[in-house]
Amino acid sequence: MTSELSVPALAVESLVVHFPARHGPPVRAVDGVSFSVAERETLGLVGESGCGKSTVANAVVGLVRPTRGEVRVAGTPIAGATTHTLRAIRAKAQMVFQDLATSLNPRMTVGAAIGEPLLVRGLARGRALEARVAALLSEVGLRPEHASRYPHQFSGGQRQRIVIARALALRPTLLVCDEPVSALDVSVRAQILNLFVELQQSHAMACLFVSHDLAVVRHVCDRVAVMYLGHLVELAPRDALYATPRHPYTRALLAAAPEPDPELQRAKPRVPLQGEIPSPAAPPPGCVFHTRCPMAVARCREEVPIWRPLGETMVACHRAEESPA
Ligand SMILES: Nc1ncnc2c1ncn2[C@@H]1O[C@H](COP(=O)(O)OP(=O)(O)OP(=O)(O)O)[C@@H](O)[C@H]1O
Ligand code: SF4
Ligand SMILES: [Mg+2]
Repeated sequence: MTSELSVPALAVESLVVHFPARHGPPVRAVDGVSFSVAERETLGLVGESGCGKSTVANAVVGLVRPTRGEVRVAGTPIAGATTHTLRAIRAKAQMVFQDLATSLNPRMTVGAAIGEPLLVRGLARGRALEARVAALLSEVGLRPEHASRYPHQFSGGQRQRIVIARALALRPTLLVCDEPVSALDVSVRAQILNLFVELQQSHAMACLFVSHDLAVVRHVCDRVAVMYLGHLVELAPRDALYATPRHPYTRALLAAAPEPDPELQRAKPRVPLQGEIPSPAAPPPGCVFHTRCPMAVARCREEVPIWRPLGETMVACHRAEESPA
């Protein structure tokens, strides 16, 4: 956890990202999100498709400009940073995307792709660069001779290892991973997730890990934040979140997640999650979850629940102290 004295690897404060629409009101992709990630910590960010996870991740690495609020990487604000500072931040905060097809240039050898960030910044060349690339390849479980091959000669899992090696080249202090295993076969997901855990420890990196898959997040994260329609609804240490979820939406997500053991699957409580996700261009008043919440009462339709501590959890729900009916 973040101590008051240490500067978190990442601090996101009251982040708002609205995308203007050609017709009608803007899309409120992120609508006031605050969290921090401590040094060496992994924070998971989960929620259904379209809730704003990627927009948060993109704002953190400077790919999307916040409408309001602040992002600080190791204490340095991204907004208003000089080109020089921004370059330094971009080196410290590296992103690993889901999309394997576009993450690697098909015409570039694997060695050139991994070495590119070092070469461009003038940090290594020639023999020294080759040695760094070889070391990075072996760190991700590949062999130095793979450097001369092309991305299409590798499997999906191997390509994701290459992308990770490239992200590690500048020795980042923060890794932002957006669905890094979603495009992979189930059989190789666990290997790549284990690699993340190993590398995060050996490189002493913090990690913001975006996924719609609660099982994946459970495997790699210290704390988990749950997002719904542009808002955080719950943030808790991993075990607390899975054992005693406080927000009705977290409970619904956990109930909907498939359980590998059929016995446990049958015993699972059913929390109905009815209806469609409302449009982020026209979010409901009061609690944004009230249109789908099995515990909603009149107050929920009018009053926005405040983001508050409850034990070791942060939650935004008027009825978080109550157990589900
Ligand atoms: N560049 C953009 N312009 C307009 N709207 C956008 C843009 N990027 C995202 N959005 C919208 O913002 C909302 C949040 O999108 P985002 O991609 O952050 O969600 P997500 O949680 O990552 O979803 P998924 O799980 O499908 O990846 C969605 O309604 C999306 O359509
Ligand atoms: S505030 Fe009300 S509608 Fe929102 S999650 Fe809590 S009980 Fe449900
Ligand atoms: Mg996304």
